[in-house]
Amino acid sequence: MAVPQQFLDYIDTKQDDLIDRLKEAVAYKSVSGDPTLRDDVQAMVNWFDGQLQSYGVETTQVDLGYQTIDDQKLKVPNAILGRIGNDPNKKTVLVYGHMDVQPAAKSDGWNTEPFTLDVQKDTGKMIGRGSTDDKGPICAWVNVLEAHYAQQLELPVNMRFCFEAMEESGSIGLDELVQSEAAKGDQGYFDNVDCVCISDNYWLNTRTPTVTFGLRGIAYFEVTISGPSADLHSGMWGDVVYEPMTDLINVMSQLVRTDGRILIDGAYDGVDDPTPQEVDEYRSLDYSLQDVQEAVGGDIALSDDVATLLMGRMRWPSLSLHGIRGASSDDTSKTVIPARVTGKFSLRLVPPQTPEGMQEKVIAYVQKVFNNLNTKSTLEPVKMTSGGMPWITDDTDWNYQAADAATYDVYGLLPDHTREGGSIPVTLTFADALGVSVLLLPVGRGDDGAHSTNEKLDISNYIGGSKLLGTYLYKVAAIDATTKGKQFSKRK
Ligand code: BES
Ligand code: MN
Ligand code: MN
Repeated sequence: MAVPQQFLDYIDTKQDDLIDRLKEAVAYKSVSGDPTLRDDVQAMVNWFDGQLQSYGVETTQVDLGYQTIDDQKLKVPNAILGRIGNDPNKKTVLVYGHMDVQPAAKSDGWNTEPFTLDVQKDTGKMIGRGSTDDKGPICAWVNVLEAHYAQQLELPVNMRFCFEAMEESGSIGLDELVQSEAAKGDQGYFDNVDCVCISDNYWLNTRTPTVTFGLRGIAYFEVTISGPSADLHSGMWGDVVYEPMTDLINVMSQLVRTDGRILIDGAYDGVDDPTPQEVDEYRSLDYSLQDVQEAVGGDIALSDDVATLLMGRMRWPSLSLHGIRGASSDDTSKTVIPARVTGKFSLRLVPPQTPEGMQEKVIAYVQKVFNNLNTKSTLEPVKMTSGGMPWITDDTDWNYQAADAATYDVYGLLPDHTREGGSIPVTLTFADALGVSVLLLPVGRGDDGAHSTNEKLDISNYIGGSKLLGTYLYKVAAIDATTKGKQFSKRK
């Protein structure tokens, strides 16, 4: 089934309206990690639900209950399930995305208001929180629906939807929702799903389209060390008492080396060294040292060898230190000995590692390091505050071939096939619960700055991405679902 020119033309001619859609989406301060903004998150859910409904999708909002943060009982924003099309002769594609975003304030260093999409026609950039992660991509799906609905074009596949608004905050309740919905079989929203498509990642660089077949998992930890019953004056008590901050810095400094090597015993257990063929695959990706430097804004890479850098991001675990809570964090030179401090760090995991397995290793190691300090401070039990499984799949099946073919149609290039360093924990849940192929098909570029200041999405990626997601549906419809091969795939 060829992609109707009418669909592609609609995306082009309605460009300004489609940008307005993203502008409306970005205006919702749907920061799932900020307890004071829960109403805004739910407002975003209601708006997005309305968008889906107005283009013919039958939806339900699912109540995911409550969570407790610092003794405060908070409502978890609803998830949305949706369906359109019920033709037994068509394939059924399930789409996942998230409506929540990371926090953002102009004072963090944004050049513009983060929740006002700044559309720069001259540079082609649209700057705003969520523009690429993940409001741009989920709006691109709505653009596909609108283009069909408005022109009375029949969708080439049945579609099912699962959107959440807690992805940036541990996806509370989502695994259970996906599992219970999958267990309903024909009676649920995931009836007869043939494949899953998630657009919540990015091209590797700024020029080559990408499809992604792996994600790292995550294990997030908090280590708390306490001592005095209250903060102390450092003039009176310095060199008199053991200091929790000194102990914590000592512990944290022994988690990872400057060159990125993780020091936790067993941190690399189960992860095989790459074969020479695998290293060649990394070398074949369109990526340079300059791409790294431009994306991070400086000459700070751990190696000059691009394959080494790519493997660091995609196929090895990593450990990053995130911050310390309870330390004197204002800008003044407060001469205090903090009484109780909490260090925050996380590990990215790769198959076959699991958050639980890593938790055991981290607890044992932190305890060992702390004991060696011979301090009288107290180490509170190490907490793993969130965890997500890594995921990897076969990137040669028909779902990936459909994505390759769609990319070639829209961009005139075959996509790089990548694994990603970030995490979308529900990906593995979909794969396991439904037993079908899961594909990541990104809209944005590698320099979009997700989670950072001045997060952006290029207009050309938003428009191209809308065409890509729509075209992918036609390729899925057309492909023989038994084919397995590489006619479109670069990767061996
Ligand atoms: N869209 C990202 C996931 C991602 C990041 C994919 C980088 C590819 C490259 C997602 O919104 C995200 O930020 N996930 C969190 C998950 C965590 C909160 C469990 C992450 O990776 O930190
Ligand atoms: Mn995301
Ligand atoms: Mn994110």
